Amino acid sequence: MKTRAIRLYGVNDLRLEEFELPQIAEDEILAKVITNSICMSDHKAAEQGASHKRVPNDVDKNPIMLGHEFCGEIVEVGKKWQDKFKVGSRFSIQPALNYQGTLDAPGYSFQYIGGDATYVVIPHQVMELDCLLPYDGEAFFLGSLAEPVSCVVGTFHAMYHTTNGSYEHKMGIVEGGNMAILAGVGPMGLSAIDYAVHNPDRKPGRLVVTDIDDARLKRAQDLYSVEDAKQNGVELIYFNTKNYSDPNATLMEYTDGKGYDDVLVMAPVRMLVEQADAILAKDGCLNFFAGPNKTDFTASMNFYNVHYASTHIVGTSGGNTDDMRESLHLMEKGLINPAAMVTHIGGLSAVPEAVINLPNIPGGKKMMYTHLDFPLTALTDLAELGKTNEVFAELAKLVDKHNGLWSAEAEAYLLENCKKRIKE
Ligand SMILES: NC(=O)c1ccc[n+]([C@@H]2O[C@H](COP(=O)([O-])OP(=O)(O)OC[C@H]3O[C@@H](n4cnc5c(N)ncnc54)[C@H](O)[C@@H]3O)[C@@H](O)[C@H]2O)c1
Ligand SMILES: [Zn+2]
Repeated sequence: MKTRAIRLYGVNDLRLEEFELPQIAEDEILAKVITNSICMSDHKAAEQGASHKRVPNDVDKNPIMLGHEFCGEIVEVGKKWQDKFKVGSRFSIQPALNYQGTLDAPGYSFQYIGGDATYVVIPHQVMELDCLLPYDGEAFFLGSLAEPVSCVVGTFHAMYHTTNGSYEHKMGIVEGGNMAILAGVGPMGLSAIDYAVHNPDRKPGRLVVTDIDDARLKRAQDLYSVEDAKQNGVELIYFNTKNYSDPNATLMEYTDGKGYDDVLVMAPVRMLVEQADAILAKDGCLNFFAGPNKTDFTASMNFYNVHYASTHIVGTSGGNTDDMRESLHLMEKGLINPAAMVTHIGGLSAVPEAVINLPNIPGGKKMMYTHLDFPLTALTDLAELGKTNEVFAELAKLVDKHNGLWSAEAEAYLLENCKKRIKE
C-alpha cells in the first residue's frame, strides 16, 4: 500500500513524499487518515529536528511521519486484533503512549505512523496500551481535536492540593476556587476555558484569562462569553495584560488579594511563569502546560512561599487514554465544543509551510484534510475566495450557518466536493 506523507528529516526539513508502507504484521493495523490538526508541538518538533525529545537521532536517515492529532478509518486488521477492531470503523489515537517508559509517540518517533499522511501502519504498542480508540462521532475533525482536548483534560486532573498536616495530594483543581489561565486564548487556552466552564465535574468559582493579543481575546469572548460562564456558575474575566505596568497587582485585585488556587501557563515565557508564581494563593498550584523549545528554560520561583505557603508546580505533556475517553464523551454529549479551536482548513501539501510558520499565522487550529490538496485557508476568507470558487462559496455559507465555526456539515461537504485530491 502506497502512502503520501509529510516526513521530518531534520530541522525544518519537512517533505511531502510518496512511499510504500510495509505489509502489516499480525499485531498491526492499516488505517486511512482523514484529518490531522496541526499543533504547536509539531512546530517545535520541526524546529528542533533530531534534538527533540521524542524524535529519534537518526531521523535524517529514517524520517518520521509528522502529526499526532488524527482521525480516520481502519482499512486492514492484523490477526491479533480482529476480535477487537473492524475494517471500516472510525478511530482516534492517544499518542502519548509512554510505552515501557519511552517518550516515543506517533507523529514524532515512527516511520510509518503520523497524522499528516493518507495511510499509516498502527504499531502494536498503540493497541497493547489501549491507545487506539473507537470513535463514533459524525465529524472526523472532532476526532482529531480529541487529542489536544485530552491534553487539557489531563492537565486539569494533574493539578493538586494539600491539607496542612496531611501528606495526601488531592488531585484536581479547587472546586469554586480562583483559577487563572495565563496566555490563555491560543487554541489550547480556548479548550481550557471551555473545559473549565462546561465540564460537569468540577469548576472554578472565578476564572481570569489573560493574553496580549486583542484579536484572539475578542474571539475568545465571543465564543465563551462572560454571560454563559455566569450561567454555569463561573465568574469569567478576560484581561489584556499588554498595556499594564503592573499586571500582577490587577490580577491580585480580581481575587481581593487572596491569589489563585490554580494557574495554568499556556506560553513558554519566563515572565509568565514568574507571574504565575507571584499570584499563587496559599497551597496554589502552578501548572506549566506550555512546551518550552529550549532545554535550558528556567524561571525563578519564590521558595519562601514553597516552604510557608505550600505553593507547588506541576507540568504535563499529553493526556492519557482516560483523558481522551473523557474528551470524546464530553464532545459526544455536546458539553464542550472544540470546533471553536479551528480557524483554518487545508490539504496535505499545505502542511510543511503551515507547521514551520505556525507562530506567524494568526488564529487557532489548522485542520488538514490529508486526501485533499488545497492551500491553507482561513474560515474567515472563504466568502471572499468563494467569489471565484463555488466550493468555497458553499463552505462560507455553512460556516456562517454554524456561527462562524467549522462543523460536521461543512466537513462532509468539503470531503464530497473538493476537486483537487492527493494522488493515491
Ligand atoms: N502540555 C501539553 O500536553 C500540550 C499540548 C499541546 C500544546 N501544548 C503547548 O501549549 C502551549 C499553548 O498552545 P497553543 O497552541 O494555544 O499556543 P499559541 O502559541 O497559539 O498560544 C499561546 C498564547 O500565548 C499568548 N502569549 C504569548 N506571550 C504572552 C505573554 N507574554 N503574555 C500573555 N500572553 C502571551 C499568545 O498571544 C497566544 O495567544 C504551547 O506552548 C504548546 O506547545 C502543550
Ligand atoms: Zn498536539
